Amino acid sequence: METLSEKLRNLETDGAYPFHMPGHKRQLDGAYRYDITEIEGFDNLNSPRGIIAEMNKSIADHYYSEVSFFTVNGSTCGNLSAISAVADMGDTILIARNCHKSVINAVILRKLNVEYINPKMYNDSLIGFVSVSSVMQAVTSLESRGTKPKAVVITSPTYEGVVSDVKGISEFLHSKDIPLIVDSAHGAHFHFDSAFPEDSLRDIDICIMSAHKTLPVLNQGAIIHVNSDLVDPENVMRYISMYQTSSPSYVIIESMSRALELIDEKNPFPEYVANLRRFYEKTADLRTLSVEPISSDRDMGKIVIYTNNYLTGDELGRTLREDYRFELEMYGRDYVLAMTSCMDTAEALDGLAEALVTIDKGIDISAKCDAEPGQIIDTSTKGDADLRQRIDYLRHHEKRMEPFEAVKNTVSMPVEETIGKIAGEVVTAYPPGIPVIIPGEIIDESDVDYMKETPCYTVLWAKAQQEKTQFSKSYSATRNWA
Ligand SMILES: Cc1ncc(COP(=O)(O)O)c(C=O)c1O
Repeated sequence: METLSEKLRNLETDGAYPFHMPGHKRQLDGAYRYDITEIEGFDNLNSPRGIIAEMNKSIADHYYSEVSFFTVNGSTCGNLSAISAVADMGDTILIARNCHKSVINAVILRKLNVEYINPKMYNDSLIGFVSVSSVMQAVTSLESRGTKPKAVVITSPTYEGVVSDVKGISEFLHSKDIPLIVDSAHGAHFHFDSAFPEDSLRDIDICIMSAHKTLPVLNQGAIIHVNSDLVDPENVMRYISMYQTSSPSYVIIESMSRALELIDEKNPFPEYVANLRRFYEKTADLRTLSVEPISSDRDMGKIVIYTNNYLTGDELGRTLREDYRFELEMYGRDYVLAMTSCMDTAEALDGLAEALVTIDKGIDISAKCDAEPGQIIDTSTKGDADLRQRIDYLRHHEKRMEPFEAVKNTVSMPVEETIGKIAGEVVTAYPPGIPVIIPGEIIDESDVDYMKETPCYTVLWAKAQQEKTQFSKSYSATRNWA
């Protein structure tokens, strides 16, 4: 049977002249040549019956999933669709406080009542997994108030690769007929090698994966798996088709199909895992920096390098970039994150390990900056290193309103004046898009410091409700964030 790639390539020789969209008419080189729309022989993205339906089936087969849907609008579309499929206006939902902002946006769009489950810290620096007991506690507390949540939403793995006990959480929730939604945006590769944590896909009612983050798939390509007695997959697809563009990007779709072909034909995972293991061995004995070691409850593909108060994350990230030409995924205040995938070469991973060994050797072991627990050194605002408190994402914020109420009728005001006001919009740095403040929460002094300090963006004005009880400001910092 002709593959999707072959069908697209054949357009160049066999295709009829395109008196249809897109407007580039396939006249330019590269991806333009096969960027088509719903034409004869192809499919409808939002009501797939042909070649896209076949690819969805192939994705499901690869993941041993009952039903899988591909979307060209990322896990953002997946989260919006999953939550919309299980909860409607006035329903209550439980979400982990470290969820991506798209989860909050779903809660706002569907006008849901929300309660938050705080994840645990994985170690001093990384958040965090959601424990079974915290889910039990949150559900029981709601039940004692006469409410059953329509679903529980958690992120696993997190941006830094920390996984939760999804099986345990799902067992508890299913004993109460509550569906579990897992944002596995960063876990699309787990399934392909036992060196990674289990994806537990069959235990999750709706699981969302950004294939583009950790597989050789173009940006925005994502998968939504439905394996549930509680959720109707057709309902999920209905919402995907509402939130997703109606323009099928065959460029993105084909990249998913090719990723599966590549995995089938070459299986790059054993070599990837071997390269990763070698990286961890080479960096096991650093003296000043340290690398979060391999463990069964974390994705070893996310390389977290701590600066341990010898450098700031920013300084290490810049050194790697400027002196060694390695561009990292993110610089935190006291660690940096290197994201890897099965497409990374042995040379790149060995090179990163060697760069770290060299940088580590060059640091004076007696030059560690003294810091109290919870403090880190930081040069982000003042030039010279000073000590400051680590941003605590899990710090309690009083919730005064439901997020959907808090986003209404906001007006602008200077950030300094927002202390004590109710947030009207998500405040987050991107990446990773985890909200520091969620609409409906009271803003405090530390939040204002955070907004003023975040280096890539100077916030002067924010929005507040006309009655001046609400505030709203969403801003995004790029690679340097607190
Ligand atoms: C945990 C998590 N969920 C969802 C998303 C959104 O993913 P996408 O970019 O595929 O829409 C991200 C993106 O960074 C994320 O980190």
